[in-house]
Amino acid sequence: THQWRGVITEYRDRMPVTDATPIVTLREGGTPLVPAPVLSEMTGCEVHLKVEGANPTGSFKDRGMTMAISKAAEEGAKAVICASTGNTSASAAAYAVRAGMVCAVLVPQGKIALGKMSQALVHGSRILQVDGNFDDCLTLARDLSEHYPVALVNSVNPFRLEGQKSAAFEIVDALGDAPDVHVLPVGNAGNITAYWKGYTEYEADGPATRRPRMLGFQAAGAAPLVTGEVVKQPQTIATAIRIGNPASWDSALAARDESGGRIEAVTDRQILAAYRLLASREGVFVEPASAASVAGLLMARENDWLPAGQQVVCTVTGNGLKDPEWAIAGAPAPVTVPIDAAAAAEKLGLA
Ligand code: F0G
Repeated sequence: THQWRGVITEYRDRMPVTDATPIVTLREGGTPLVPAPVLSEMTGCEVHLKVEGANPTGSFKDRGMTMAISKAAEEGAKAVICASTGNTSASAAAYAVRAGMVCAVLVPQGKIALGKMSQALVHGSRILQVDGNFDDCLTLARDLSEHYPVALVNSVNPFRLEGQKSAAFEIVDALGDAPDVHVLPVGNAGNITAYWKGYTEYEADGPATRRPRMLGFQAAGAAPLVTGEVVKQPQTIATAIRIGNPASWDSALAARDESGGRIEAVTDRQILAAYRLLASREGVFVEPASAASVAGLLMARENDWLPAGQQVVCTVTGNGLKDPEWAIAGAPAPVTVPIDAAAAAEKLGLA
């Protein structure tokens, strides 16, 4: 009768906590590593999906938030603040409730998905829509945390990355070693940094004998790490990664270079195609930003950045229910029928 206890307790010896740290958890992590037969067939690789939408608030952010909020509680913080494209704020809002803290969130006006906004609202956070993009929100959040009594819980807070590295541990624990290649979407670049840290620790200490090549994918309209230049007006339908000046820029490039990997761009069209493929063929419903990893996987094979026969883990970062707009757009409207089996059978094509 063992229940997963959350990432801090499961990996306690690898987390910066002491007996004085109150553990604020919703039992995040322990997410499924799901074999992807269709993607494996398409690529000639052994592809697994790390389904982070299965976390308590529906994204990987919970892994970092349990650490950031636990440490804020240890330090006596009464209020936390974050800038967000929606998932960080959803997670911060929930964990702040668990810790009895006030949560302030700064989001780019009109550019966060409906499900994410509903999470910040229902958990009672104080939401400000900023007349600017995510990068502007982060600048403002840093400024506020420096001058007012409020703790910053964006991934520039190092405890966030400590929590998020747990996903790499889980993958190695499940597969018996690190995969050949790890693919993930990149926005503010905290997650690729955290995975690399996790894989590096596990290799140094024994559970893994190697580290994967890291393949990161940005949206083409928001790809500063690919072009090498800050993007002033980032654009993409994948609002979660609509970021022009990633906070963890240097450490993302270090993960790329130390692993012999790449950071490349995928178009919105490729993202949406991968989004529909995942839902309609693999049975896995993710949000558009998450599908950037799968779009990247397919592009990597086409461009021979990924040889056939490799073991690949693709992180899908957030739940599809967060951003239902893209599931509904372009889909046929459901047909209405009377309460009549013959009529229903005919419409279903069964008759
Ligand atoms: N996928 C999803 C669903 C995200 O929400 C994010 C980031 C990323 C990928 C990229 O991860 O920033 O560590 O490179 N979302 C942040 C937020 C920015 O505010 O929720 P990253």
